Parts: sequence; C-alpha cells; structure tokens
Amino acid sequence: MDHLKNPRLNKGLAFTLEERQALGIHGLQPAAQRTQDEQVANCKAVLESYNQPINKYVYLTELKDRNEKLFFKLVSENIEEMLPIVYTPTVGLACLKFGIMYRRPHGLFVTIHDKGHIYDILQNWHEPDIHAVVFTDGERILGLGDLGAYGMGIPIGKLALYTALAGFKPHHCLPICLDVGTDNKQLLEDRHYVGLRHTRVRGEIYDEFIDEFMTAIVKRYGQDTLIQFEDFGTANAARLLKRYRNKYCTFNDDIQGTAAVSLAGVLASNRITKKKVSDHKILFYGAGTAAIGIADLLTEFMVREGISREEARQRIYMMDINGIISTGRNDLFGHQTYYAKDHSPEKDLLKIINEIKPSFLIGASTQGGAFTPPILKAMASYNDRPLIFALSNPTIKTECTPQDAYEHTEGRCIYCSGSPFPDVIYNNKVYKPGQGNNSYIFPGVALGVVLAQVHHIPDEYFIIAAEVISENVLEDELAMGSLFPGLNHIRDCSVKIATRIMDYAYKNNVATLYPEPKDKIKFIKSNLYNYNYIPSLTGRWSWPDESNEKKETC
Ligand code: NAI
Repeated sequence: MDHLKNPRLNKGLAFTLEERQALGIHGLQPAAQRTQDEQVANCKAVLESYNQPINKYVYLTELKDRNEKLFFKLVSENIEEMLPIVYTPTVGLACLKFGIMYRRPHGLFVTIHDKGHIYDILQNWHEPDIHAVVFTDGERILGLGDLGAYGMGIPIGKLALYTALAGFKPHHCLPICLDVGTDNKQLLEDRHYVGLRHTRVRGEIYDEFIDEFMTAIVKRYGQDTLIQFEDFGTANAARLLKRYRNKYCTFNDDIQGTAAVSLAGVLASNRITKKKVSDHKILFYGAGTAAIGIADLLTEFMVREGISREEARQRIYMMDINGIISTGRNDLFGHQTYYAKDHSPEKDLLKIINEIKPSFLIGASTQGGAFTPPILKAMASYNDRPLIFALSNPTIKTECTPQDAYEHTEGRCIYCSGSPFPDVIYNNKVYKPGQGNNSYIFPGVALGVVLAQVHHIPDEYFIIAAEVISENVLEDELAMGSLFPGLNHIRDCSVKIATRIMDYAYKNNVATLYPEPKDKIKFIKSNLYNYNYIPSLTGRWSWPDESNEKKETC
C-alpha cells in the first residue's frame, strides 16, 4: 500500500501491470494505464476547471501530498502557469486562509515556548538529511503584514520553488515557522487561527530564541546547511542578517533576492537605454526591508562601475510613510541613514519628483495605486525612457499596473512589477511586462551555494545572479517590454547562476566540496532532482528512490 499512499512512491495510474502485480496493488486501481505526460495533461484539465486561484492552490497541495513527482513535473514544466498559484499572488490568499485550510503539516512549527528545546523539535522532523531551510516568524508576509503562524505558507511555497526551479530534492528541504505570537488583533480573535494566541514576544527573549534556532539547525544538519530568512519584520530583517551573515550559511530573500532581481532589471534596461546604473537618479517610494536591500546592492554595483560609495548614495533618494528620508529626521534606522539628504520634510511624491527629476522610480511601499497618472506623467516628462518598478505584492498592493504605466508615459516607460500581470496592448503594440520575481534569483543562488558547500553568502553571489539573468533576456523579450527571461527558462538560468557561483567560490577558496568538479555544469545537472518516474521494481529489496539517488549524486 505504501506505493499508493506514500507520495514519494506513488505513480497512480502510471504503475505498469507488472508493477501492480509484483507490488501487490493490482486491482486497487482501475485498469487504465497512463504515462506521466498523460497524467500531467489530466492535472492541467482539472486545474482549468477551477475558476478560483485558491481552489487551484488546494488542488496542487493535495496533488503534492498524493504524488510528489507528478506535482513537480507539472510545476517544473509549466512554470508560467503554475508560479502564480504556487507562489505570489495566490500564496498570499492561502496564508490568509491558512487556519481554515490546514490539513497536515508540511513543515515544522517551533514556538517561543519551545525555547531551550529547539534541537529536540528538529529531531522530530522525519527527514534526516536537510540541505536547505526556509523560515519565517510571519511578521511581514508579502505586503499583508503580520500573519503570525499563517505565514507558514511562504516557506512551504518557497521550498516548492527550490525543487521546481532549481532541482533541489524535496526531502532535502525543510520549511519552518517560528511562532512567537502575533500583533494582528484580528487573528488573535479569529477562531480558526492556529498559532499562539498572544502578542509577539520581542527583545532579548526573541533574540535568544533566534540564536538557539540557528545553533540548533547547524548542530542537527551541519554548518553548510543553507538557512533562508523569509518575510521578517522591518525591525528584525536587516538586523538579523547583519548578525548572522558571517557566522552561518544564510541570506534574506526579501533583502538580497529582491535587490538582485531589481539589479537584474536595471542591467537589462541598460541594454535598451545604453546607460550605466550610475547614470541614474533613483527615487525609492518605500524605505523598508526590500527598498534598503535594493539601494545597498545598487550602491555596490555603482562602486564597481567606478564611482565612490558616497557619490553612489547621493544618487539615491528615499521616501517612507513619513516623507523623504532626510538628515533632519530622528526616526531613521539601519541603512536608511546612508541615503538621508539635507532636505526639508516633504511627503508629497509628486512634488519630490518635480524637484529631483529622477530617471528611475521604484515602489516598495505596499501602497497599491500610489503611482497615480500625474506621477507617471511627470516621470515621462523628465525622461525619454523612465524606469518604473512597481514591486509591492500581492497584486492589489502594486503601485501602478502596467496598463497605467504605459498609458500615462505614452508607452515610453520601462516597467516591471512584483506580481504577474497579463499582456498589455497600448497604441496597437503588445507589451509583455516582466515580473521582478525573486524566483529568478534565489533558487540558482541556493543551488550554487549548497553544491559548492560554502559557509557564507556574500553580496557578490547576488550580483552574479543579477548579471546572469540580465544576460539571458532575449532581444525580442526586451523589445516587448520584458526585463526578464521568460519564466519557463528559470530552470536553465538557475543552473547557469549555480555554475558561475561555484566558479567564483573555487576561485576565492571558499568552496569546501573537494575535489573540485571538473565539469561543473555536468556535476550540477547530475545532482538535480529527477521528477520523472523511474521503474518501481529495481530489485526485490532495493528502495527505488535510494538507488536512483546513488546514481544521481556525485
Ligand atoms: P516594509 O514593511 O519593510 O517596508 C514598507 C515601506 O513602505 C516602509 O518604509 C514604509 O514606511 C513605506 N510606506 C508605507 N506606506 C507608505 C506611504 N503611504 N508612502 C510612502 N511610503 C510608505 O516592507 P518590505 O519588506 O520592504 O516590502 C515592501 C513591499 O515590497 C511588499 O509589498 C512586498 O511584498 C514587496 N516585495 C516585493 C518583492 C518582489 O517583487 N520581488 C520582494 C520583496 C518585497
């Protein structure tokens, strides 16, 4: 029965007659036999029959619980259609409904009351060989705010993408939600809420808890386990990254992944405008985790282009909910101070644009519709090809839609969004706006890092990833307004990013996997998860996936 009940072994109607007889499952299924491709087509037909994205999400979750290889083949070979369901925007809705939809654990919940016993809880996870952990404390889920334990949907979704987009083996991945409470009153009163029913624990106890968590992961799974921070609140994200980045193999996708995908977008736009990054005057609308991460990486890149760090920072202006980031303010935190200008307090975005005349406007504010027609028109009046990045997620939080962006800039803007949008027709021209999706970056970076067995993740890896992505945008794609390669090419891009990161890691003596693989692409490909079925009868006592893995793993 394991072969029908265990999602890792189950092939459903794809079991051959010989397999059904030898495994003792003959008669437990209808007579029909299907190939895996036919099953994928069947799944797509089922998905099409659902109108609501959330129902598609539930169907895919159940498919993953039933037949893992079929799920990953479906997602990996249909990335463009599946990404918006498995990840943003639908995953946001799934998080909001996490309590009512909860069926079974797909990861670990570690609560603040488990402090002192985190290692023991890790021992309860059934897979012993974990290479990548994605974890959140649920404080800033997408642009939806504090969702507490409901945030678990995000690490689950991200790690599904580790497999679908970079070939990580699913059993090497572990999603974790750290439940320290929530400050979301609505959730605390929601009878479906599945997390701790008290406000967030902060301060020293919280810090000790995170410290213990990081130590426990390394003790349980090894120093080179990749630990990805996901959707932490603004007050913690940059602070924790700084604290751990040189001690653990860790990164924060909201800071570094977002920064890299934005840099990739700018580098691709430079192919159209023939500008350098340092030729831009940049205005950020929103100065939180994502914006600061982007600003820092753009600064690093400008320094590489040859200007000083101080000059680079002078080219970057920022606004947050309290107005322009200026030296006179006493509420600035972290790296915001790097970008503070000597400026009188001002909260009006249009006035600031008219004064600064930026060439590049980036929204990471969670304020849907903030880039109004007058703002877009102003950008178009100062620039031949204004850059407009509206990065806030999910879709309703986008600062402006591509339709608005093209319409109010006479089709001249170079646009990207954080959430996916359909094609736009403006002035008889079809635009296919690209999605500044971190999924272009983090799977490939993670793959290179884990395979080279490095112990830390420097910014350089994210610059490498951004360069690879921008180089892989086709001229045709650029002409249609997309700054990113087609989503269906992400798997290839991940291998290219991983290859370049491995090259860099060996050149800089930080890789610990020895001997160095001679042919890195071949090595990487030989380590990727195989989502195609393999024969279930490989010998009486052998475990199918294990024999497969021995062949695949160097
Ligand atoms: P955050 O909460 O750290 O920062 C939000 C910033 O927006 C704060 O500086 C806040 O003061 C500012 N803000 C809020 N209301 C404002 C207003 N009315 N006017 C001006 N500024 C205002 O959030 P984080 O992590 O920086 O994320 C921001 C948005 O970016 C979210 O919607 C998130 O989903 C999105 N994001 C998109 C990514 C992508 O597309 N690749 C990746 C990471 C985040």
